[in-house]
Amino acid sequence: MASPLQDITSHDTYVSGVPHESFAYLRANDPVHWTEETDGGRGFWSVTRHADVLMASRTTEIFSSRLGIRLEDMDAEETEARRTLMEMDAPEHTRLRRLVSRPFAPKSVNAYEDAVREIAVQILDSLKGRDEFDFVRSVARELPMRMLGRLLGLPDDDLEWLVQRGDALIGNTDSDFTDYVVDQVDTSDYRLLPFRSPVALEIFEYASQALAERRLVPTHDVLSALLEPTADGDTLDDLALKNFFTLMVAAGNDTTRYSMTAGLLALIERPEIYERIPSMTIEERKSLVEEMLRWSSVTMHFRRTVTQDTELGGRELRAGDKVVLWFTSANFDESHFESPDEFRADRAPNDHVAFGLHSPHLCLGAHLARLEMRVIFEEIVARWSTVELNGPPERLRSNFICGIKVLPVKVTWR
Ligand code: HEM
Repeated sequence: MASPLQDITSHDTYVSGVPHESFAYLRANDPVHWTEETDGGRGFWSVTRHADVLMASRTTEIFSSRLGIRLEDMDAEETEARRTLMEMDAPEHTRLRRLVSRPFAPKSVNAYEDAVREIAVQILDSLKGRDEFDFVRSVARELPMRMLGRLLGLPDDDLEWLVQRGDALIGNTDSDFTDYVVDQVDTSDYRLLPFRSPVALEIFEYASQALAERRLVPTHDVLSALLEPTADGDTLDDLALKNFFTLMVAAGNDTTRYSMTAGLLALIERPEIYERIPSMTIEERKSLVEEMLRWSSVTMHFRRTVTQDTELGGRELRAGDKVVLWFTSANFDESHFESPDEFRADRAPNDHVAFGLHSPHLCLGAHLARLEMRVIFEEIVARWSTVELNGPPERLRSNFICGIKVLPVKVTWR
């Protein structure tokens, strides 16, 4: 097989879509592949097979998150200042995760279904009378944003401002979202801030105020819950609270938005599945969402750092090496999934790694994201008898997040 390898580290590569052929080539020929970095980084191992991604995600004592979960190399000072739940290993990670996980557990999330549906209905009904719009702007961006606002107890009027700032962080490689594009302008003044962005300071300030208000008058939202000590009296300090708030604004919005959008595009391309949704059972609709998650693989990779010399996929890895787990590749691994290039609404089993399967870092928002996706599609099919593409989709410039940032659609209302 001739090498079809594209530059998988370049943000520009992803503007025209995920380079699936490159990943297929690596899985077949060099599944743990030494990859040079185009922006001066020290290089890293690309792990592309499902089994190896799973193995590394589970073995956190060898594949550590402490030195960073993105490609970027940070010095000790930066690493410390920017540490969130994601950049921790046990026991620090276990402790913090215990402090924040209750509102995101399946039982808590199931109780949000009515709220998610109410917001979904509002969003879709507000579009009545319009046949053409950008699905991302009008629908997919709105639901996660408003639901997060509801969970955190924030006023609706603040949400647009807040989500723009979250987008500037996660979209820090795309000039549509930020003036501080990390690989294009000098961001060294902001190197101690999340995503090397001054926008993080604005989110910190907002979080401090919201938390101060709840210290004075406790409310019934997730933020107040985070201020409460656990049964053994453990609490979060101020920096941890602000970092966690920022993590939720950044990680809890665009990921669900882009998964919904890729899901709708898959259905537009397969109208026979779209038409079947109203008669699907709830379990079948849940399977459909899982396939959308596998298909979209919105967080394309997470990085680890090797703590001791080890072997993976037949390669010798040295302590200190950077290892990138390509979730987007694992989800299309032909040695694991039958016909991975087919979108199968009823795929079973479907042990995709879109949320980081079997890892202590398994996405905290997974149940919420699944719920929002199922509900929005249930409400969409109840309203639109057809939906088609009304212009070319536009993609985020990022090697980290696979995002369709504009999806022009034309719909027929029932
Ligand atoms: C479809 C949407 C989503 C996708 C694809 C996604 C993906 C992921 C992945 C792959 C991880 C694991 C990171 C690692 O292994 O280092 C993760 C972690 C995390 N996610 Fe999500 N996420 C989504 C939605 C959300 C939402 C809605 C929230 C919050 C409201 C959220 C909050 C988090 C947090 C806090 C972590 C860190 C967990 C830890 O380190 O223990 N995510 N997410």
